[in-house]
Amino acid sequence: MTKIPHSYVIGNPVKHSRSPQIHQYWLKHYGLDGSYELAELAPDQLAGFIEKLRHNENAGANVTLPYKSDVIGFLDDIDEDARSVGAVNTIYKRSEKLLGTNTDIYGFLTHLSLSAPDWLKNTKNVVILGAGGAARAILSAMKTSGVDNVYIANRTISRAQNLADEILPTARSVEMSKVQGILPSMDLVINTTSLGMAGQLPLELDLSTLPGHAIVVDIVYTPLKTRLLLEAENHGLIAVDGLGMLLHQAVRGFELWFGTRPEVTRELRQMVEKSLEVGP
Ligand code: ATR
Repeated sequence: MTKIPHSYVIGNPVKHSRSPQIHQYWLKHYGLDGSYELAELAPDQLAGFIEKLRHNENAGANVTLPYKSDVIGFLDDIDEDARSVGAVNTIYKRSEKLLGTNTDIYGFLTHLSLSAPDWLKNTKNVVILGAGGAARAILSAMKTSGVDNVYIANRTISRAQNLADEILPTARSVEMSKVQGILPSMDLVINTTSLGMAGQLPLELDLSTLPGHAIVVDIVYTPLKTRLLLEAENHGLIAVDGLGMLLHQAVRGFELWFGTRPEVTRELRQMVEKSLEVGP
């Protein structure tokens, strides 16, 4: 009997996750046998669930909050990307071993390069807004790309400094209240805070002082067009949304579990966009 590979997204909560929609779309699109299901776990269920991933029929899992760091201790090894971010978002198996990677760096850089192919050539100075888990992945992506002049702006400046010390010592920390002052020399602005997300406070930033070639990225995708992105568009700047990162980070997990490299199609994007309009 052929085995159908199962995959999951584990976290708490996970009901809001768009990942089942994405992976189930690809399974159907490529006519593959396989499954992708939600697994909402209490903290004391985590170790047991990861152990079960070793069973033959399981291919692996995505990991979301709050377990992205906790799972590392249950895995046999993690790769360079997971090590650099300090978090695993994808678990897969090779030669009976349970391995962890982080596909956010790939997802972010792929979507940015598709949206603004010349970004690296035109980027000297970058400001990352926020110093939480999402900022770690973005800062690692900047390091991978060889961008050294990074400013990390955060409400709690010590978190920004700690992040720089840990991942990219050339990065400088700035208080969020002072970020406006450095915008005239920034080529790339990336919001990784929850500000601007539906139900959260807006991100108050005047983008009129950015250079004309600047790129503005918001990794928030609810709403799809945040006020930050709308303002960037109003100033004629390149605005890059967060949904593309979500879709592209899923590509590597799917390929690792099911052996087919899937495509981020317009149809897939439209389907997820539609579900975002309905709400979380
Ligand atoms: P994630 O893992 O999604 O990045 P996180 O680790 O909780 O989430 O980080 C959230 C980020 O949004 C942090 O940079 C946080 O700033 P602090 O480190 O000062 O807490 C930022 N953030 C959240 N709410 C904010 C607010 N009202 N004003 C300014 N920054 C805020």
